[in-house]
Amino acid sequence: MPITVPDLTTTRLDLRPLTPRDAVDVVRLVNDFEVARYTATIPHPYDIDMAREFIAAPETAADAGERFPDDPEGAVVLAIALREDGRLLGCIGLQKTPEGTELGYWIGRQYWGMGYTTEAAVRITRLAFETYRLPFLIASAVTINDASHRVLEKVGFAVTGTGEIHSRAQNSALPVVHRRLDLEDWQRRSAAADSQAAQ
Ligand SMILES: CC(C)(COP(=O)(O)OP(=O)(O)OC[C@H]1O[C@@H](n2cnc3c(N)ncnc32)[C@H](O)[C@@H]1OP(=O)(O)O)[C@@H](O)C(=O)NCCC(=O)NCCS
Repeated sequence: MPITVPDLTTTRLDLRPLTPRDAVDVVRLVNDFEVARYTATIPHPYDIDMAREFIAAPETAADAGERFPDDPEGAVVLAIALREDGRLLGCIGLQKTPEGTELGYWIGRQYWGMGYTTEAAVRITRLAFETYRLPFLIASAVTINDASHRVLEKVGFAVTGTGEIHSRAQNSALPVVHRRLDLEDWQRRSAAADSQAAQ
């Protein structure tokens, strides 16, 4: 039985595959140096052809989830959309790397600080552990990207070390802090949260 990415909903969000209709909104949200500067892969400036290419990539397709488990370079990228009106807020994804499966995300600047990334990250982390049965997840954030570290902390990622990424937007190397979340730690945290919610 293939593992697809089901429509993943949360209280406020719908995590869904991107479609060509999202291209204009992707440009509007991503063509912002503040969004691009601490990521490895987002170029700046960012134009509609880049958005179209990004949306046409295999990892953004509706069936990306089916390919993900068996492909050593598999990836799943989902739009973070508002449930109430379908508005695109950002993107979140899982990318297999030689070091493990990496969580990544970005969200448009006007939507920062509203808990949306944390809400999406909690849901995709559950997908990674419950559906894909991954033993652990990794994530890296630029050392001074406090908001991203806070998101990762809230989801349960612990610091494991330091390193460097090459930022396309800045065309330079940036120091990063590496983090990791093990399945057992996630299960313990989830059980504790469930028992607290039941009280
Ligand atoms: C990092 C990013 C995804 C966070 O998205 P978000 O939706 O604003 O995140 P949330 O609202 O879920 O949580 C942000 C947390 O960081 C905190 N925060 C925000 N800015 C902060 C800052 N400058 N210093 C410390 N904490 C900060 C918020 O208070 C919140 O924590 P809290 O819930 O304890 O109050 C967003 O800023 C972004 O897209 N940045 C550009 C792209 C990027 O850096 N992606 C990550 C690459 S690793």
